[in-house]
Parts: sequence; structure tokens; C-alpha cells
Amino acid sequence: MDFEKLRSDFPLLSRYTYLDTASSGAMSKQVHRAIVEFIDKWLYEGEDWNRVIKDVIDARRLFSSMVGVKEDEVALIPNTSTGLIAAASSIKWKRGSNIVIAEHNFPTNFNVFSSLLRNRMIREIKVARYIDGRIPIEQYEKMVDEHTQLVSVDLVGWLTGYVEDLRTISKIAHEKGALVLSDIFHAVGVFPVNLRSLDIDIAVCGSYKWLLAPSGAAFLYIRRELLDTVLTNCWTGWLGVKDSIIERMVRGETRLFEKPLPLLDSQPASSTSRYEWGSWAGPTVIGLAESLRFFQKINIESSWRRIQNLTSILINELVEKNFRIFSPIEKDRISGIVSLSTKNSYDIAEKLLTDKIVVSARPGILRISVDFYNNEEDIERITYKLTEMKAATP
Ligand SMILES: Cc1ncc(COP(=O)(O)O)c(C=O)c1O
Repeated sequence: MDFEKLRSDFPLLSRYTYLDTASSGAMSKQVHRAIVEFIDKWLYEGEDWNRVIKDVIDARRLFSSMVGVKEDEVALIPNTSTGLIAAASSIKWKRGSNIVIAEHNFPTNFNVFSSLLRNRMIREIKVARYIDGRIPIEQYEKMVDEHTQLVSVDLVGWLTGYVEDLRTISKIAHEKGALVLSDIFHAVGVFPVNLRSLDIDIAVCGSYKWLLAPSGAAFLYIRRELLDTVLTNCWTGWLGVKDSIIERMVRGETRLFEKPLPLLDSQPASSTSRYEWGSWAGPTVIGLAESLRFFQKINIESSWRRIQNLTSILINELVEKNFRIFSPIEKDRISGIVSLSTKNSYDIAEKLLTDKIVVSARPGILRISVDFYNNEEDIERITYKLTEMKAATP
């Protein structure tokens, strides 16, 4: 794969040194073209709704193959947070139970589970914390007990870029009968992910970062065996029931509304698609399916090697120049995110932007993201600018 050549598919890269995929991925010409064609057709011929439904089915199929699970274990939902709420509202919480989460999880993870706590549906939330840049596995061993119903750990920390050892965590959780949930937003599209081999029960992943698609969509994975057994009391809507129009389309029917739609006798779909409660955002779905097709052409192993190589160069350069790295630097823990500890991250990010370098500022942290479309020149530019700024700081 010629990644240098591939850069021309992303016009943003010709104007900016774009190192901010962890906030929002760059748009490819292919995604842009697919959305524009869809909208243009809509303008003159009406919305091609069947195309949207076809792309929902395609997106589920392509994503499930990217993460090594079955197509019917994946639902296409509006965002990651909705997926977490859907999962949390489907678990039958037992009296006195607890949830174990990681310090590096995205806030929505804390927010959803604190709602459970507030409503007295669980007794406790335990947080596994970083010690010297790592979350020691012993913390999970200590925290997970016979009252733990859920262990929720993001595969990659959104601020640190720390890659968690989910396989070991799943083993610890399953031995105590707990479920494992993981937000895999900063992992899919960066490195190969196999949810089966990580033994994850539930996963959520949004569209708009490393999957390089528009916002307004996310995937929810639920292990097939858990539906109707462990995850039961879920709500559903007209697109998540048996014999919905999308099930009709999957069966090859074309007159989707010819038969009446299920009403009071409706049953949840037997697949994870029961969590698809209502209509999707058409242009988002079109863009997402197109982006996933783009990923099919990329060899994820080789793009991951490129990301690893670039992040290593970046880390080495920054260490050499005495910057304080907030992210892990061990090879088995790095992802596409490299963060620096700094007091004035907003000032730095704003100054970099005047030089057309895009990174993100978070409290006390400057987050630099490296994707396959970045190159050594990008790394040189940012390290040069950061060093120049540091030298100019009294
Ligand atoms: C790891 C992670 N999960 C979830 C979210 C939010 O996702 P959504 O807006 O789709 O709910 C973010 C946003 O930055 C994130 O970094």
C-alpha cells in the first residue's frame, strides 16, 4: 500500500498538518463524493431511502468483519453514548452489585454508570487507576469480586492513548461471572481488533474519528448468546423488531411496506439490530459505508505498522527534546495517540493552529494523533514547532 499516494485522497492534508484524528478524522474524497451524490440525487429525485437501508446493512457487515464478529451481532446506532445506555438499560442489575471501570474511560462511561448509582440500581463503582503510567492488572484482580456485574474498560484511553490488556481483563471478569464492555472508538481503524479473541461481550465504536466518517453513527456489538439471556429488558422501536423493513430487505424483499408493520404483537429482532430503534441519518450512513469500503482496500496490518513507526519517531524526538510525555511509551501500549503534559495546552494548540498544525488541547494535555495518512514530515514539523515554542518560553 502506497500511503504517501493515499494522502492525496484527503484534501485537508494539503492545507494543514493534521494531527487530530482522535478528535475527528479527515474526510476522504471518496466519502465526500458519496455524500454529495446522495444529496444531489435527493435534490432532484427525492431521498434514496432504500440506498440508506442498503448502506446500513453494508456498514454492519463491513464493521463486523473488521472486528471479527458476526454481522447479526452488530447494530448501527446514532452515537457511542446511546450504545452504552442501551447496554446499561438491558442488564438486570442485582441488588448490591458493583461495576469496575478504568480511570482512562471516556466521561460518558462514568456518566452512564453514575446514573445507575444515583438511581440505586447498583451499589458501587470502582475505578482502576494509573500508577506510574500503567493501570496494573492487579487492580482489576482486586476490584472484581462476586458482586461485580460489569467491567467496563476502554480499549484505548482517549487522553493517554494507553492500550489496555483486555484479554486478561476479560479473563478476570469472566471468572467472577461479570460481563465485559469496551469502548473501542480509538482502536478500530488504528490497529487490528478481534473482539472474539479479546473475549469482549459488549462493545461500542463511533464513526467520526479513526473510521474517518461523519458523526451521527456508531456501532454496538453484543455477543449473540447474551441476547434474551443476560441482556433482556431492552426497549425497541419499529426498526428493531422482527419483520421490520430492514429485516425484509435483508431477506431480499423489495416491497418493504407491502405487508403491515408489526404492532402490539411485535417481538424484538433476534439479532443485535433490536437496538436500532428508529431512522438513521442518511448522509452519515452513506459516508460511513463508503469509508468502511475504503478501509477494505487498506491493509490494516501495514497501516498499523506505519502508525507505530511514526508514533515511535514522535515519542523519541519528544523525549530527546525533554518534553514530558503523558502517554505510555512502551511498545505494547502505544496507539495512535501521543499526549504531552503541559500547563498551557490551549495556548500551544492555538499557536500551532496559526502555523496550520492541528492538534487538540485537553486539561493539562496536548494530544497529538497519528494516523496512516500522516508522514515523517508532519512529525518533523510538529516537533520543530514545539521545540521552537519551548525555547521561546521564559
Ligand atoms: C472514547 C470515546 N468514547 C465516546 C466518545 C463520545 O462519543 P459519542 O459522541 O458518539 O457518544 C468519545 C468522544 O470523544 C470518545 O473519545
